[in-house]
Amino acid sequence: MIIAIDGPAGSGKSTIARRLAERLRLTYLDSGALYRALTYMCMRDGVDLGDVPAVVKFLEALDIDLQYAAGRQRVLANGRDITAEIRDPAVTRQVYYVAKEPAVRKEMVAHQRAFGKRGDLVAEGRDMGTVVFPNADFKFYLDAGADVRAQRRHRELREKGMEVPLEQLRKEIEQRDRTDMERKVAPLKRAEDATVVDTSDMTIDEVVEHVMERIEKGRK
Ligand code: CDP
Repeated sequence: MIIAIDGPAGSGKSTIARRLAERLRLTYLDSGALYRALTYMCMRDGVDLGDVPAVVKFLEALDIDLQYAAGRQRVLANGRDITAEIRDPAVTRQVYYVAKEPAVRKEMVAHQRAFGKRGDLVAEGRDMGTVVFPNADFKFYLDAGADVRAQRRHRELREKGMEVPLEQLRKEIEQRDRTDMERKVAPLKRAEDATVVDTSDMTIDEVVEHVMERIEKGRK
């Protein structure tokens, strides 16, 4: 079984996908973590993010691994733990460089499909239902107003000890929505057969219950 969850930043995808994976005992695939890991490692090793052939070559030699234990995700690149580093706002701002490149996405899609071959999956990102797993058994598109999403991200960062002004975060989220939706390859959009869930006024538990009900109904 494959469950695809797409949507913009702060729509609740990661939290919901993680909860579903636990409840249904599926593997959780955080595709955004792969794009973030590549971006961070390029920045760290001085690979010019605008030099596409260099980035692709770098990616081919990069071993990115996503691990889950005791409800916690760890992201490893060439064996080094970069879990915290990839969430840094400085990385978030630069991801679009690699995410808009067809050659990069081609590699990433192959990597993500390899996860699917290992077994049942909850896959979360921007193009899970449209490009990577078009035949997914269930597709959801989570959304929420920009203000709510900025507030959620603000809280998340604060919990990690990072203070970014709310207004700045809202602007950055809107900018990222635009670049994600307007890029030529695999733009963020709802798959035609995806169920839209507006999470603006819902708690995490409510979203999980709503999505679970859909899945249970669909499995009968
Ligand atoms: O958690 P948040 O929604 O902020 O971001 P993410 O899911 O970690 O993704 C970070 C960025 O990676 C997005 O803004 C996209 O530009 C890119 N991405 C993508 O292009 N395709 C995916 N399947 C997942 C992420």
